[in-house]
Amino acid sequence: MSFSIIGTGSSLPSFIVKNEDLSKIVDTNDEWITTRTGIKERRIIRDESLLDIAEKATRAALKDANTDASELDLIICSTLQGDTISPSLACLVLERLGVECPAFDINAACPGFVYALDVAAAYFESKKAKKVLVLSAEQLSKFTNWEDRKTCVLFGDGAGAVVLGEGDGLKMINLKAKGQRESLYIPAFSPDSPFVKTESSQNQFLDMKGQEIYKFAVYTVTEDVLFAAQKAGIEIDDIDYFLLHQANGRIIEAARNRLNQPASKFPMNLCNLGNTSSATIPILLDEMNQNNQLKDGDILLMSAFGAGLTSGVCILKWGK
Ligand code: ACO
Repeated sequence: MSFSIIGTGSSLPSFIVKNEDLSKIVDTNDEWITTRTGIKERRIIRDESLLDIAEKATRAALKDANTDASELDLIICSTLQGDTISPSLACLVLERLGVECPAFDINAACPGFVYALDVAAAYFESKKAKKVLVLSAEQLSKFTNWEDRKTCVLFGDGAGAVVLGEGDGLKMINLKAKGQRESLYIPAFSPDSPFVKTESSQNQFLDMKGQEIYKFAVYTVTEDVLFAAQKAGIEIDDIDYFLLHQANGRIIEAARNRLNQPASKFPMNLCNLGNTSSATIPILLDEMNQNNQLKDGDILLMSAFGAGLTSGVCILKWGK
């Protein structure tokens, strides 16, 4: 027995930063950002906390699943970092919900949502859980170097959540990690102590070699999709939607061309949200669910890549 997705939710910060706003901060312009990435605007946390949007996404998913928070057996939150390093963001959400169950964060960079689904699957298989909340909540703006035009145009903040219940929706799931730091990393901030002096000039921001990640992404997404379909015994043509990590429209387009599939199967929302790391897929899924785009029996493939280098792919049948 594995799981089916029985509810979705998402929440976004209210503050919108458009490409034109960024062109006042760094040497960039709407035309470059749009043609190279497909992004027009992104949401940035300013008037609320990450916990606030994480809680809103959670409550929306619980409502959609017609589930009371007290029914949850487990909360897993994928995040690069919550509002506090400890307690975990999952525990802070739990406190807001006023319930008790195991709760923890995982950090697998952008494929974190798929990684969290895999952990959840193990709880269902071992019969330790009947209802699980998987939440992805990310505040990339905290790690963004707003003086670096190569990266600051790419990212945004947001939260997406799903409630999982017992079912046979999950058809296959596979995770990978290569162990490679240089192409994309965010250093940890370590202040001086009486015993250890750190270099005061240490960079605290996200650092990325964009072209290396681009090549890794196109290759990995294609490879993961083909592997997943083969393992699940499903023809690529029979997949109804490919929910790919929303990092760059050109990456999605390149993968789509390699897979020879129509654009209508590749929903995108990065135009309005940018890359919200592990939250991109659950936010996209919630948008599709709320817009009644999904029908029972639809086959969904989710695939994400990110720092590590990591990747994750899964195939799910939609339906409660
Ligand atoms: N505005 C204007 N010019 C820019 C900007 C900008 N914002 N950024 C870079 N440029 C310039 C560069 O300086 C360079 O100029 P030069 O030729 O004079 O040196 C030129 O544009 C081309 O730069 P490239 O880096 O070659 O541009 P590219 O077409 O590769 O696009 C991009 C860059 C968008 C970052 C692309 O490589 C990419 O999307 N990579 C993948 C990134 C990604 O997916 N990251 C997330 C993965 S994991 C996660 O989600 C955390």
